[in-house]
Amino acid sequence: MTFIHRPRRLRRTEAIRALVRETRLTPDDFVYPLFVCEGEGVRREIASMPGCFNLSVDELVKEVGAARGEGIRSTILFGVPDEKDPVGSQAYAEDGITQRAIRAVKREVKDVLVIADNCLCEYTDHGHCGVVEGGEVLNDPTLDLLARTAVSQAEAGADIIAPSNMMDGFVEVIREALDDSGFEHIPIMSYAVKYASGFYGPFREAAQSAPQFGDRRGYQMDPSNAREAMKEAALDFEQGADILLVKPALPYLDIIRAVRERFEVPIAAYQVSGEYAMIKAAGKLGWIDEERVALESLIAIKRAGADIILTYFARELGGRIG
Ligand code: PBG
Repeated sequence: MTFIHRPRRLRRTEAIRALVRETRLTPDDFVYPLFVCEGEGVRREIASMPGCFNLSVDELVKEVGAARGEGIRSTILFGVPDEKDPVGSQAYAEDGITQRAIRAVKREVKDVLVIADNCLCEYTDHGHCGVVEGGEVLNDPTLDLLARTAVSQAEAGADIIAPSNMMDGFVEVIREALDDSGFEHIPIMSYAVKYASGFYGPFREAAQSAPQFGDRRGYQMDPSNAREAMKEAALDFEQGADILLVKPALPYLDIIRAVRERFEVPIAAYQVSGEYAMIKAAGKLGWIDEERVALESLIAIKRAGADIILTYFARELGGRIG
């Protein structure tokens, strides 16, 4: 048999495979999400996210420092306050848990990038991402609180603000508030395309942020919609988002690719808690090779077009690549 084309010629050895490899992961691609809670010496494992913890500020500093030592430079912080109220006051309190965490990490760990998640759901007693009236999540009254939160996060030392709340107009309002307070140099990484997803389940346990009534379908996107994702991304781009984020990641590779092709800004993808939990669970049962499947998922997310990947595997796998 003579075939002119034999693709297997380029797969014969690891050396040749490495030579023609199109996509590679490096630790610089990763952002490490961490949950910070009140107290001291707290390192409480999250049942549905083995290997992830609720950390008090002192433990958080240790974790970020250790990850930094292993080559992971970026972290995104989620606050888990003890006190919640209807308007999420702790989200924008000067001495809120997130603000204290940002200050401590920036003070104690050298050369680390701290991203602040900007949302109210971890801070409200009803668990919704905005102000609630008569069972409705109100858009415009929420914007002012998100803007205050962004400014207080920047004041605490956050390097990037990442609004994840899905209220209309949030990028514009946060940009304006940051600029008015002298933070025109602080980028916004917008969760532009965020689906109402079952894959957030374990996160809500971790952040104790499950909605107490109803669900988030009134503000997060319908998983059936792709055209609408382009509209959401375009709006945030026009309002000045510096980085556009798609979430979840693996079930939405088509969306990551489409956003990548349409917008000339860095694209981030969030491999969310449910994606992590599924890989961990099947790995623990011995049903899959956990590390292999995790790396394959991450390379798929990058191949689809993500420049930045938020992943709970960041520290564990950071040392295994690049
Ligand atoms: C909202 C927010 C959520 C996640 C990140 N930011 C939860 C939600 O919308 O319910 C989910 C991340 C994950 O599942 O890993 N503050």
